[in-house]
Amino acid sequence: MSKSTTSLAFLLAALSYFLLYSPPKPHYYHTLFLSASFSDNASIALNLRTLTRRPHIAGSVANAEAAAFVRSAFTSSSLKTHLVSYQVSLTYPLHRSLLLTPNASATPITFTLEQEDVGDNPYAEEVTPTFHGYAKSGNVSGPAVYANYGRVQDFAGLNVSGAVVVARYGKIYRGDIVRNAHRAGALGVVVYTDKRDYGGGGDECFPASKWMPPSGVQVGSVYNGLGDPTTPGWASVEGCERLSEEAVELSGDSPLIPSLPISAADAEVILKSIVGDVADGDVYPVGPGQGILNLSYIGETVIARIENVIGVIEGEEEPDRYVILGNHRDAWSFGAVDPNSGTAVLLEIAQRLDKLQRRGWKPRRTIIFCNWDAEEYALIGSTEWVEENREMLASRAVAYLNVDCAVSGPGFRASATPQLDELIKQAAQEVQDPDNTTQTVYDSWIGSSNSGVIGRLGDLTSDYASFVQHVGVPAADMRFGGGYPVYHSMYDDFTWMEKFGDPMFQRHVAMASVLGLVALRLADEEVLPFNYVSYATELMKSAEDLEKDNLGHGIDVSPLFKSIQDLYTSAQGIHIEKEGIKGALKARELNDRLMMAERALTDRDGLSGRTWYKHLVYGPAKYDEYGSESFPGIDDAIDNAKRVKTKNYWGLVQHEIWRVSRAITHASLVLKGVLR
Ligand SMILES: *[C@@H]1O[C@H](CO)[C@@H](O)[C@H](O)[C@H]1NC(C)=O
Ligand SMILES: *[C@@H]1O[C@H](CO)[C@@H](O)[C@H](O)[C@H]1NC(C)=O
Ligand SMILES: *[C@@H]1O[C@H](CO)[C@@H](O)[C@H](O)[C@H]1NC(C)=O
Ligand SMILES: *[C@@H]1O[C@H](CO)[C@@H](O)[C@H](O)[C@H]1NC(C)=O
Ligand SMILES: *[C@@H]1O[C@H](CO)[C@@H](O)[C@H](O)[C@H]1NC(C)=O
Ligand SMILES: *[C@@H]1O[C@H](CO)[C@@H](O)[C@H](O)[C@H]1NC(C)=O
Repeated sequence: MSKSTTSLAFLLAALSYFLLYSPPKPHYYHTLFLSASFSDNASIALNLRTLTRRPHIAGSVANAEAAAFVRSAFTSSSLKTHLVSYQVSLTYPLHRSLLLTPNASATPITFTLEQEDVGDNPYAEEVTPTFHGYAKSGNVSGPAVYANYGRVQDFAGLNVSGAVVVARYGKIYRGDIVRNAHRAGALGVVVYTDKRDYGGGGDECFPASKWMPPSGVQVGSVYNGLGDPTTPGWASVEGCERLSEEAVELSGDSPLIPSLPISAADAEVILKSIVGDVADGDVYPVGPGQGILNLSYIGETVIARIENVIGVIEGEEEPDRYVILGNHRDAWSFGAVDPNSGTAVLLEIAQRLDKLQRRGWKPRRTIIFCNWDAEEYALIGSTEWVEENREMLASRAVAYLNVDCAVSGPGFRASATPQLDELIKQAAQEVQDPDNTTQTVYDSWIGSSNSGVIGRLGDLTSDYASFVQHVGVPAADMRFGGGYPVYHSMYDDFTWMEKFGDPMFQRHVAMASVLGLVALRLADEEVLPFNYVSYATELMKSAEDLEKDNLGHGIDVSPLFKSIQDLYTSAQGIHIEKEGIKGALKARELNDRLMMAERALTDRDGLSGRTWYKHLVYGPAKYDEYGSESFPGIDDAIDNAKRVKTKNYWGLVQHEIWRVSRAITHASLVLKGVLR
């Protein structure tokens, strides 16, 4: 071949390349994201080991070091990274003592309140002494009275006036246990991990098995709100306005009596003094017996620096639309499950997206990685950030995807605002179950005891709360495994994870696949994969539950049903409209409606008497923060009406039903894009 024909051939080849070439579709990259060659369980394990080497409570030097590690990991995955720090109020224990006088003639027993270092962890010495975050300082004494799980019903008919309540963990938020005890007249509370709930029934415990050792203590916060208690509603930036300690105490979210978390072993001694002998059986008489408890807790309150680490991949076509992934970093001690399994998953996703970018992928929308601080105290890092960025998020956030305890065992679980239900299920169908090679995550989930049920986000359990409840951002939270026995104890460490939580780190890999795929589809698809038919269906169920309660007193639930029916119709309209969408601007206009429909469920006045909570469908129940309910405002009003029993109060129930109905109607109008 002559030289000229060679160059002609080259020219033709180049020309046809440019004419025929089209960049790969997002789907190609999404498949690549899930491929085995992209996942890396060894680096997940290594990252988790590094993050959990030392205890890293919020405000500590070790947690600042962990932040630096996350920052450098983000940077090496090509994220544009920055720190956002806040000055927030945290508490640490200064003095703790618990004394039991079993009877008038016995010598008092002093409990050591120490967890035994059963696993020979070289940094066990650095674990903060067991305490309750934001517990009230004080010295109290009184007869010990057993109050089971400390729920409202557990105090019914129980005289705890002047007593020190002994309650067990496991059914409600510990802050609500303390609040309920105070309302019932108790002077102080000790909360323990009962062997029946956390001990597995046998004698073996960690490190021989996954169960909580007898000296193990579940620590945790007893504050009933969220965000820095001294800056309610605004961000804790340097030099900002702050409430006084007295004002914080009056806010209604601070505990009003002292409390301490204790071990199963210590609780057994105390319970014996109440009933003489604790049988292995399930019935614990309640006392008071002869035992007197003297409880002393002195905490120090400090204004500490906390650090959120933020990493960004800018969107190619819609940089001002945000898909946000978040997880907290701070831990009560080593935090292998809670929260750093989530951090390891986040870093794995960042690493895979870096590989995708090297293959030419660019997200349509901006993806933001957030590693929060001080979640354990009161979801502080995320809440301050949401408060500081409220308007930016309200106008730009597409969705917030959370992982906290990402892996504690087998079995996928999810919670979400309902327009994301279908997307989560589809993502779970694309990923193989790490515990069963013959089926997908979805198949195992559907076949499990929770049979594919998706929880909701009305509680204050993790960092999604501010996004959903303050701003109305669609959100999801996912995990493998449910509650686990060493939760919030010093035994939640790397050894526990490696032996029991995820021996091959393949559950972490699968978590990164499902969560990452959800994020990718939200970031890349031209029309947002939101399904509001699921939302309407879910609301209909809640409305039917309300109707079943047969409230009487002339309460009419029909406005609610009518508004939900409208939403259903509007949502179906979107499905048809979606098919015919042509052009980026048209898609953008539709997407704005899909994004803003969730915002329409918020109300600027918020829940009655709890105005920070703007969402009228998802918010915490007043006396149980773990209890995720629909229509919290209606529930509160019913609670009040049942207590006060006047016509006026039933009128307020009707008012709350109207408020929710109006919000749902707003959502329909937004979806339809109708200007009335
Ligand atoms: C008092 O408590 C001690 C230690 O628990 C026990 O040995 C003793 O029998 C108790 N005495 C009475 C009168 O209950
Ligand atoms: C509470 O008790 C501790 C010792 O147990 C003591 O140091 C402290 O001063 C006491 N505080 C009050 C307010 O009595
Ligand atoms: C309830 O507690 C109060 C205060 O300790 C006490 O005076 C009263 O006798 C107790 N009542 C019962 C029934 O135990
Ligand atoms: C427990 O506190 C009470 C009331 O302050 C006090 O009378 C008693 O001596 C204390 N008991 C012990 C063992 O310190
Ligand atoms: C895996 O799933 C199949 C059903 O597809 C089931 O028959 C089998 O028992 C499962 N295996 C394990 C180890 O759970
Ligand atoms: C990663 O997974 C492979 C295959 O399941 C396994 O052999 C290996 O031990 C795992 N690595 C770690 C660090 O667990």
